[in-house]
Amino acid sequence: MRNIIKSGFKNAIVHSPIRARGSYRSLLKPSLKTSEVGILGGGQLARMLAQSAVQLGLRPVIYADHPQCPAHDAASDLVLGTLNDSQALEKFFARVSVVIFENEFVDCEKLRSAAIAAGRDPDQLFRPGLSTIRALQNKLQQKKMLAELKIPTSPFIEVSNPADLPKIANAAGGAVVLKWSRLGYDGKGVLFFDPRKEDNLPAALRFCESAHSRGIAVYAEKKIRFKRELAVIAVTGTAQKRGTPATVTYPLVISEQEDGICKRVMGPALALGARPAHQKLAVRAAAQIAKATGLCGAFGIEFFETREGKLLVNEIAPRVHNTGHYTQNAFSASQFENHWRAVLGLDLRDPLKEPGANQRHFAMLNLLGPDQVSISGADLPLPSPGPSSHLHWYGKLEISPRRKLGHLNGIARDGRELKKLLREFELCEKSWIQALKKK
Ligand SMILES: Nc1ncnc2c1ncn2[C@@H]1O[C@H](COP(=O)(O)OP(=O)(O)O)[C@@H](O)[C@H]1O
Ligand SMILES: [Mg+2]
Repeated sequence: MRNIIKSGFKNAIVHSPIRARGSYRSLLKPSLKTSEVGILGGGQLARMLAQSAVQLGLRPVIYADHPQCPAHDAASDLVLGTLNDSQALEKFFARVSVVIFENEFVDCEKLRSAAIAAGRDPDQLFRPGLSTIRALQNKLQQKKMLAELKIPTSPFIEVSNPADLPKIANAAGGAVVLKWSRLGYDGKGVLFFDPRKEDNLPAALRFCESAHSRGIAVYAEKKIRFKRELAVIAVTGTAQKRGTPATVTYPLVISEQEDGICKRVMGPALALGARPAHQKLAVRAAAQIAKATGLCGAFGIEFFETREGKLLVNEIAPRVHNTGHYTQNAFSASQFENHWRAVLGLDLRDPLKEPGANQRHFAMLNLLGPDQVSISGADLPLPSPGPSSHLHWYGKLEISPRRKLGHLNGIARDGRELKKLLREFELCEKSWIQALKKK
């Protein structure tokens, strides 16, 4: 299998800076006498973005399809509607100074039309811009861009004809990982395929068929024997420093998944055995990606550290990311705050310039709905965090297996304290699950 280098990917337009410095109130158009800022989406990321906006003195308005969504009680107001409801979108776009995204799975054309109908300039309203979202909402496009930028990534090839799967896998040396190019998340849209295992083929064919029937391309990636997964959160501002957009980066972290869902994050990776060269590479890749795609705000990059010691980019998320939740308690400005700072044209806080940024240890544990537990109601048992843990709860009214319900954050002075912290997380999770199972 070989990398597909020739791609239709065009460098997205880098939008013009709003303004380098000053209060965000002065950035708002005079005609829009509002400090209301818009968040498209109402899940846990929107909730944490709204919490951060309130701390900055802004009035976050969320656009969501459910009045009791996780973000509803953190926001100043809610506009109810689906992503297909042009009228509700127009109403929302007309009142806010800027719109940011909880996730990238949006119909950019629909958003553009609704913005125009609301009398707004789409190039000014959305951060990041719609061309950036369009380029990064497609993981196959991402792979092509990475190849063009010569940023190491696993070899890949589009699967246009599912009948070719065994041939493709054999050419890749055995097992491959099949991926939907769009709409995949938390391991949905990812399937491991081994041509030597008889039962794998029917499932792989179904996987391709269900993507193709929705107009979603499928690609196959070489299965990487990784030593561990790493991740980094970067933030690109609209403020320009000497002509180039400034990108700041949080430290490289170790990210552990369970069944494709992020379970635990620990860092800084440099203090936990990662190579300084890998952090440098991650920082460089983040700046390259931001420049090539015109990114604005926080974004996450997932990596594989191969057993041979290479660092490969797995995927890019053009928004705040689960592997960056630790920043709420480990850094003076979280990914959520830096996201707002970036989209509003304020100076960013540079995490790697904070004293001890590469020494202070930290961890995050995702609290997922336990297997075989499906309950709903407002009075569900809450986890009770230990003395060194901070609970971030999403207020979801329904618990189902593997659903993200909250997370625990904590910091530690060194590796020994970090182990103690992780043990504290585990105990908290265990007693919470026991309480849930008694319900
Ligand atoms: N090429 C690969 N080789 C080995 N494991 C992989 C590969 N691609 C993905 N995975 C595993 O599957 C998980 C989910 O894949 P990913 O592409 O990140 O999808 P999602 O968008 O659902 O996060 C990864 O975090 C990793 O554990
Ligand atoms: Mg992923």
